[in-house]
Amino acid sequence: MDGPAASGKGTLAKKLAGHYGLAHLDTGSLYRAVARDILTAGKALDDEAAAADAAQSLESGTLNDPALRTPEVGQAAARVAKIGAVREALFKFQRVFASRREGAIIEGRDIGTVVCPEADVKIFVEASTDVRAERRYKELMEVGHDISYEEIHAQIAARDEADRSRAISPLRPAEDAHLLDTSDLGIEAAFKAAVKLIDTAISQA
Ligand code: DC
Repeated sequence: MDGPAASGKGTLAKKLAGHYGLAHLDTGSLYRAVARDILTAGKALDDEAAAADAAQSLESGTLNDPALRTPEVGQAAARVAKIGAVREALFKFQRVFASRREGAIIEGRDIGTVVCPEADVKIFVEASTDVRAERRYKELMEVGHDISYEEIHAQIAARDEADRSRAISPLRPAEDAHLLDTSDLGIEAAFKAAVKLIDTAISQA
């Protein structure tokens, strides 16, 4: 599954993993963790050697750290995601995860295009910028962040631009991806639509 920031793919991926009894990997958390480790080490986000080092020595046990979920770390992650050596080191981790025999639900920006071009089913989750900003705003308010809707809207638009325009593995739907626009869908409706896509694709395979 791929899609832009705050498209709802994370919630959807977790629900699908539960439904199909599959392991789930949020690859955004890998880039977020690399950004966190660079910042913790007191290095600059565009320091390619420090970034490569952080990606190679990433501790997978730290991927659920709540500190990874802040908008600042999200933006920092989009910066380190431009570095080829970072993507290469994380690619290996993702491929190992994807190669489990029973399969997996993997979400990110380049899963259908680069990480798992042979995936049985590819879903590209979309939603309008307004809807995504609204959802992210509610999430952040619930956990007590002090940020305005306008700021979040601007951050999401800037992250879309960074993710779509980068030279290596930009965000784009794979040619054989199913597009799922969740702008007007609640989580249950989006889940049902995704299950229908997956079951149909599997039964035709
Ligand atoms: O999904 P997220 O917001 O947690 O992702 C954070 C950043 O990580 C995103 O802006 C770009 C980068 N990323 C990436 O380049 N490739 C992926 N497969 C997943 C995330």
